[in-house]
Amino acid sequence: MFNTRTRIREMLGAERTGYEATVMGWVRSFRNNQFIALNDGSTNNNIQVVIALGMLDEITLKRITTGACIKAIGEVIPSMGKGQKLELKATSVEILGDCDAENFPLQLKNRPSLEYLREIAHLRFRTNTFGAVFRIRHALAFAIHKFFNDKGFVYLHTPVITASDAEGAGEMFKVTALPLDGSAPKNEDGSINFREDFFGRPTNLTVSGQLEGELAAMALSDIYTFGPTFRAENSNTTRHLAEFWMIEPEMAFYDLEDNMNLAEEFIRYLIRYALDNNTEDLAFLAQRLDEEEKQKPLTERSEMGLMEKLDFVVNNNFERLTYTDAITILMESNHNKKKKFQYPIEAWGVDLQSEHERYLVEKHFKKPVILTNYPAAIKAFYMRQNDDGKTVAAMDILAPGIGEIVGGSQREERLDKLLGRMEEMHIPREDLWWYLDTRRFGACPHAGFGLGFERLVQFVTGMGNIRDVIPFPRYPKSADF
Ligand code: 4AD
Ligand code: MG
Repeated sequence: MFNTRTRIREMLGAERTGYEATVMGWVRSFRNNQFIALNDGSTNNNIQVVIALGMLDEITLKRITTGACIKAIGEVIPSMGKGQKLELKATSVEILGDCDAENFPLQLKNRPSLEYLREIAHLRFRTNTFGAVFRIRHALAFAIHKFFNDKGFVYLHTPVITASDAEGAGEMFKVTALPLDGSAPKNEDGSINFREDFFGRPTNLTVSGQLEGELAAMALSDIYTFGPTFRAENSNTTRHLAEFWMIEPEMAFYDLEDNMNLAEEFIRYLIRYALDNNTEDLAFLAQRLDEEEKQKPLTERSEMGLMEKLDFVVNNNFERLTYTDAITILMESNHNKKKKFQYPIEAWGVDLQSEHERYLVEKHFKKPVILTNYPAAIKAFYMRQNDDGKTVAAMDILAPGIGEIVGGSQREERLDKLLGRMEEMHIPREDLWWYLDTRRFGACPHAGFGLGFERLVQFVTGMGNIRDVIPFPRYPKSADF
């Protein structure tokens, strides 16, 4: 057996001394041919491995460079130095992997920029920032399953390859096994004959598991999906990815208000989970953010630090208001009157841009906001039509610093209404016969929402760019690693 190691997090956490232990990890620094700061990714804190003078030969000492991977065995003893309570007094040190010191990009004395680290995403896990971000990402993923499992929801795996376009947005990646060199079989009119393709029809990467989720909810009552989704929109922003993860619960016997209550409880639960379980990593990121803020002019600094912001969200209800009320607030705002919006709000019915969403949460309410009852014309076909004939039972949750973090709705369970809307939006019934069937065979009021996982991780970690909260981001013109 090779792996007999103790994790550094456990070792430092236990504060126990006077026993022999094995540690393995990557060298962060090596001082005076004596003190190794060793990290194994279980925490940002390093264990200090102390090498007695003369214990190792010159050649081995030279191989202990920043980035090298080593195994050390020794006695855990109280530390004399400041900065750590205990250290490992080595009796043996073995180099598991040398690190080419001249070419290793992570030994700059200055803190490397996030932009630069994105170019070396294969190595950025070795930094404190990304160690913290990905441990928190993991904890949130775990908490999501725990939240739903504790409530009796069933985790449903919806397909990644699909022939339907749930959101009707037309921004999908095509999936095909046909040759791309022009030799693909053609129809008489010259178009590609997809009957000859792998699935016998055109297919795409999914933009959402919702429609399939609804089918299962109509038997299992409460389900959720948690998987990757894909959007081919050309959005080069700090909030968009071409491949992102989404959590989509779908509940039978829920109306819009039940839906909002669940979404709010869910988000607050996840943030509290991180505060309770990732205290050290959050404190590290909070400090990092503080330093970043100090570089900004006073007027642009945020009013709250990361921890304060998270505490605030956990302890305060979200503001709930209708789209119509939000439009009134925006229209009457000085910001709008002084033409400070890039897209001025002129009339009811327009889609909200992220500048408007952020004005509402950051300037006006200064807390997360749930907007409801949007105009039908700017929302998907499946949302339940309200009696006013203009709006649908939609809800979006907007978060400070992020904008839209959740999109959801009560679903249209009335077959005639659903068909009417599909016709208006030119969605062929034949394609969705299976979805429509659920409205024929025991339909029920139901609702659901989608939480963008990376936007949640951004909110919790305070990271400004969504590309820094997913291990290997996919965005326009970039699919490295
Ligand atoms: O609002 P969206 O498009 O809603 C749906 O897909 C519904 N089917 C959800 C449902 O009701 N089951 O997307 C939901 C969330 C957004 O609020 C946002 O947080 C995230 O997914 N999202 C993205 N995150 C990163 N990159 C993108 N390109 C995203 N597009 C949406
Ligand atoms: Mg949306």
